[in-house]
Amino acid sequence: MAENIFPVFERMLQREHKEKLLRQNSMVLWVYGLSGSGKTTISVALEKSLHDRGFLTQILDGDNIRAGINNNLTFSEEDRAENLRRIAEVNKLFINCGVITINCFISPLKKNRDAVREIIGADNFIEIFVDTPLEECEKRDVKGLYKMAREGKIKNFTGIDAPFEVPENPDVRVDTISKSPEMLVAEILDKVLSKLYY
Ligand code: ADX
Repeated sequence: MAENIFPVFERMLQREHKEKLLRQNSMVLWVYGLSGSGKTTISVALEKSLHDRGFLTQILDGDNIRAGINNNLTFSEEDRAENLRRIAEVNKLFINCGVITINCFISPLKKNRDAVREIIGADNFIEIFVDTPLEECEKRDVKGLYKMAREGKIKNFTGIDAPFEVPENPDVRVDTISKSPEMLVAEILDKVLSKLYY
């Protein structure tokens, strides 16, 4: 830490006070996978379902964050790491506010996910891997980006000319081919709800 910076976190109200007020445990749900895998669709349905149960949530989504706070970052490996580092720090602020966050970021490399977990703290962090194969994401091509990547109009596109490392041990793995978003939300809730109740 720089010698001219004096953080004062301990004098402020703590996470426990906010969690008590909200009557929920704050938690970071990290929903990751290829572009077009269904992260945002699942997260929107998950947020609605948590909201209906009385939880205060916040979605943080790749395209939104990259249009705002991270609009100076590219898709180089270095900038993706910086993208996720900043988002992890933002998550710490939400945790201290008692909020449950739902994050939708490709998070392509194991070292990215490990770095995020390290910043946030493993106890606060649940990994949800949206396991949609590349062929299916490319077939859906909701944003038309795979076509552009294949034509060479976008460089460093995850799955095409930039890597995605499939995780070995996510806390939750969801299959968007054989199941609807509603079924997947039910599966996720089954795994996480008990951790969110105060
Ligand atoms: S991450 O790799 O840094 O975790 P992030 O989730 O923030 O990625 O952003 C991914 C979104 O940016 C994609 O859903 C897609 O809409 C858009 N995008 C634009 N260019 C690229 C690219 N080269 N690789 C991946 N996604 C891209």
